[in-house]
Amino acid sequence: MLFELDRVSLSRAGKPVLRELSARLPLGATCLAGPSGSGKSTVLRLLDRLADPDSGTVRYRGEDVRERDPLQLRREVGLVPQLPALLEGTVEDNIRFAAGCADRNPDIGRLLDLAGLDPSFAERGSSRLSVGEQQRAMLARALALEPSTLLLDEPTSALDAVTTGAVEETLLELAERLEISLVLVTHDLDQARRMSEWLVRIEAGRAVEQGPTGEVLGAGIR
Ligand SMILES: Nc1ncnc2c1ncn2[C@@H]1O[C@H](COP(=O)(O)OP(=O)(O)O)[C@@H](O)[C@H]1O
Ligand SMILES: [Mg+2]
Repeated sequence: MLFELDRVSLSRAGKPVLRELSARLPLGATCLAGPSGSGKSTVLRLLDRLADPDSGTVRYRGEDVRERDPLQLRREVGLVPQLPALLEGTVEDNIRFAAGCADRNPDIGRLLDLAGLDPSFAERGSSRLSVGEQQRAMLARALALEPSTLLLDEPTSALDAVTTGAVEETLLELAERLEISLVLVTHDLDQARRMSEWLVRIEAGRAVEQGPTGEVLGAGIR
């Protein structure tokens, strides 16, 4: 198992956000799907120890994440947040900053290529990117840490259909080329069908359904 969440609860400002949520995320590509406000982004943050639950356990590859050094965990488990999340400066600055935090010397050209960006984007200011290009730059930045798992928070929610298709293709290709596991948050069940082998449906802070994506969504129904 890549991740296991065991009866995880978390409140924010006195309001329950996650309620005894239990889920298993196998190696490979998993989608977390659910309506806005259901707790999907909060779950991603727990997986990377950007937050810890009030109760319950999160395990990564069988080990309680609280026993891991958060910074070391985040080198293995890269998070691509929702837009906008780039720092000022060029795309290369963004990649070098992230890589420097983990003492890595990034191959900028290769990372841009993996993320589907032309080498000329290295010098481009982050404020001068289209939304799709920002998404790819964030992907390149996350890949600089050479993660074995990527957490992606609604990576295509701000993109049109054509750009969404291209980003999805990049992600699937990456996962295959680098043998990276993906955990992808989406509110789009069609995207879950295209992108994942395993699906966890989240509603009101609970995992209400989970299993192989085709089985959960029902073969043939769109
Ligand atoms: N720091 C916070 N303070 C107060 N409420 C929060 C905080 N973070 C998240 N929430 C609330 O938790 C719920 C789930 O948020 P989130 O995980 O972002 O949902 P999703 O990603 O599924 O849209 C929402 O109702 C949100 O308002
Ligand atoms: Mg969210």
